Amino acid sequence: MKNFFSVEDVVNVYDLIKEAIHLKKNPYQYQDIGKNKTIGLVFFNPSLRTRISCQKAAFNLGCNTWVLDIQKDSWKIEMNDGVVMKKTQEHFKEAISVMSLYCDILAVRTFPNLLDRDYDYNEVLFQKILNYSQVPVVNMESATLHPLQSLADVMTIAELIPFFSTTTNCSKQKCKVVLSWAPHINPLPHSVANSFSQWVSQIEEIDFTITCPEKYDLDKKFSKGVYITYNQNEAFLNADFIYAKNWSSYLDYGKILCRNSNWMITEKKMKLTNQAKFMHCLPIRRNIVVEDAVLDSEYSIVLKQAENRIYASQIIFLKILQYLS
Ligand code: CP
Repeated sequence: MKNFFSVEDVVNVYDLIKEAIHLKKNPYQYQDIGKNKTIGLVFFNPSLRTRISCQKAAFNLGCNTWVLDIQKDSWKIEMNDGVVMKKTQEHFKEAISVMSLYCDILAVRTFPNLLDRDYDYNEVLFQKILNYSQVPVVNMESATLHPLQSLADVMTIAELIPFFSTTTNCSKQKCKVVLSWAPHINPLPHSVANSFSQWVSQIEEIDFTITCPEKYDLDKKFSKGVYITYNQNEAFLNADFIYAKNWSSYLDYGKILCRNSNWMITEKKMKLTNQAKFMHCLPIRRNIVVEDAVLDSEYSIVLKQAENRIYASQIIFLKILQYLS
């Protein structure tokens, strides 16, 4: 693997998930591959899980890391071309090019501006990063996608259902996974929802539903063929996994169109499901997105998802290090 931008860079999702699960059991198996290698982690926006799980993943592979929080630790970066730089000190082009000289893999987080849909959905910034970097690039969340999160999510689902069993008598019964929109006070990116939809749709043993308020449909590019319902209770019936996430409107781009707290995930709604596991990428606003009772219940697997962020990053770094060696 040369770069990791989305699921489209993966040859076989099933194999990748199996390899990530194997790494979790044998985290130091490839400790020699990272000798004298450095992974640069660049954040244009805040992070807890992505930053630390990537550092831990790199450590497991014997790699060195450096981390740069652009907002706090760097010059003010100019993102636009052709600007007379009176208010900014360093251009994105030099910044990315130089950082790529200081590492063997450059992992970057950028967020959308949620103002200009074409700019965000054409992934203008990330395309520039791919152009300017002299080393392989990993997407730690871009304007429209969060593939390391989604790999950890599908890995978490795979660990809990039998279709990834290596035994010959594994069940092939489909499991029902529901991505449910949930309320939030701020307009949030679509990246987790887009990416989750993209990855889950690759797994034929999953029966996937999205439920959201009207005018919150995701871009069809990421939700093609997915059953979408505006009735949350209907979606929850017999679900095995409920993945809660807020996103702002795609159609009325970046806007909050629904503030109805009835979309919050509650114990009462979870009772409609098949004792579904509760999922969320974190961070999460308690009692806005989900009731405490659900998040603190035995059905919540949010910490398992967070733990699997390590092995999702590790398998991607490993694939790129193997490509480099
Ligand atoms: N889920 C996730 O990406 O968390 P951070 O924003 O803390 O990295």
